Amino acid sequence: QPNQFCEAGIGYGDSSCGDSIPSSSKLLIKGGTVVNAHHQQIADVYIEDGLIVAVNPTITVGDEVRVIDATGKFVMPGGIDPHTHLEFEFMNTVTKDDFFSGQAAALAGGTTMHIDFAIPIDGSLTAGFEAYEKKAQKSCMDYGFHMAITKWDETVAREMELMVEKGINSFKFFMAYKGALMIGDELLLQGLKKCKSLGALAMVHAENGDAIDEGQKKMIELGITGPEGHALSRPPVLEGEATARAIRLADFVNTPLYVVHVMSIDAMEEIAKARTSGQRVIGEPIVSGLALDGSWLWHPDFVTAAKYLMSPPIRKQGHDKALQAALATGVLQLVGTDHCVFNSTQKSLGIDDFRKIPNGVNGIEERMHLVWDIMVESGQISVTDYVRLTSTECARIFNIYPRKGAILPGSDADIIILNPNSSFEVTAKSHHSRVDTNVFEGWRGKGKIEVTISRGRVVWENNELKVAPGTGRYIEMSPFSYLFDGLDKKDASYLNSLQAPVKRAKSTA
Ligand code: URP
Ligand code: ZN
Ligand code: ZN
Ligand code: ZN
Repeated sequence: QPNQFCEAGIGYGDSSCGDSIPSSSKLLIKGGTVVNAHHQQIADVYIEDGLIVAVNPTITVGDEVRVIDATGKFVMPGGIDPHTHLEFEFMNTVTKDDFFSGQAAALAGGTTMHIDFAIPIDGSLTAGFEAYEKKAQKSCMDYGFHMAITKWDETVAREMELMVEKGINSFKFFMAYKGALMIGDELLLQGLKKCKSLGALAMVHAENGDAIDEGQKKMIELGITGPEGHALSRPPVLEGEATARAIRLADFVNTPLYVVHVMSIDAMEEIAKARTSGQRVIGEPIVSGLALDGSWLWHPDFVTAAKYLMSPPIRKQGHDKALQAALATGVLQLVGTDHCVFNSTQKSLGIDDFRKIPNGVNGIEERMHLVWDIMVESGQISVTDYVRLTSTECARIFNIYPRKGAILPGSDADIIILNPNSSFEVTAKSHHSRVDTNVFEGWRGKGKIEVTISRGRVVWENNELKVAPGTGRYIEMSPFSYLFDGLDKKDASYLNSLQAPVKRAKSTA
């Protein structure tokens, strides 16, 4: 019954698809190399009703069970993208991908869950949350939310508690986008304290927004109005400065910090330094920062240049390789995308002024293939590391492991099958996102995700998507992840150290 299924792009908004996807409740994946972050082995994986029931060298089943042969292939946890912006209203427009098209693209690329940034409405977290709940109704895969904090008062502080009750365990602070989302140090400090008390993870977009404002004015004065002006106005030093500042404030408060989209050596080195000193800082590079060279912003064709424009900018030569090495050696912990797509017409809003070009690039569909190609095929990381960087570590940080991020009995059956001997190619023509360009256009590599299974349903197979709006679930995430373990002890020993009395001689003057 082929009409039971919806193709991405065709099925969008087609309510006739609704819940008609069969539950395909029993599935056996046979003979593949099952990879978890801690271990890999040749084994069968048996799935029932969306959950993994057994992982064993040999599992026999009856005729009613569908069997997928994975001999010679890797069977791995579906990717989890910690950083996306679907149906995001930003810079006077809204991203092309919504919760259906973006997730369909994700599934076609082996990602089975993402965490999107819910944005407050006029500072109200509750209103923002409700708006995102509505946007996410068309979901076709599992998702969670971070919440941005854009202003500060008692109401916001109370609403943060409410958000935690609703399953949000991370809050993002924008240190850039002056006049829009940006917050200052005073608010950041309050936010960090509140996050700590809630056991919620503070996340920062780390660039110095005040200095960028100066840099932008300078470029316009110099007559540099094209996309290259974007990179020139916000150099790596401003990312390094803000990263260092956020890290120090988080240290002062003694709360963990997550730095989103680490794009430069400058920022990465601040994270390395903090981690070496024992501070709990997580660094998230994104696939465009790992894979691309920012020289594209100097391309003579405006649309070509503008499609690479995001913040912080994709840096010129050298930063990509350094970020890869940092990821391989544990300085950085997981890979996101910052998928935030605008088509050529939208990018052209800034044809005369780079400050008006909507910021953002694609990646939700490409991340799993590119990380495989760049990191595993190049020999920089192992296959178990690949699973950790694309899935498991994200699940641990956001406290949903081992329900997500693992192929273990009891885990959700979010699984991909990757054929290391096949190849992939990226083109805007063949991708599943709604955006009309692709920053990885023409990229070819080894390793192809042939099957994606989302909670036990085969949603991607034979280069075809079988997805329907309304089938994705909201994943609640509890506070106090492993990053908070032992922090109270550190606080206590700090307080103890203060209470040592200082003995002073009585003044006789
Ligand atoms: O350019 C970007 N990164 N757009 C999305 C918003 C953000 O800063 O993450
Ligand atoms: Zn349909
Ligand atoms: Zn950001
Ligand atoms: Zn982002």
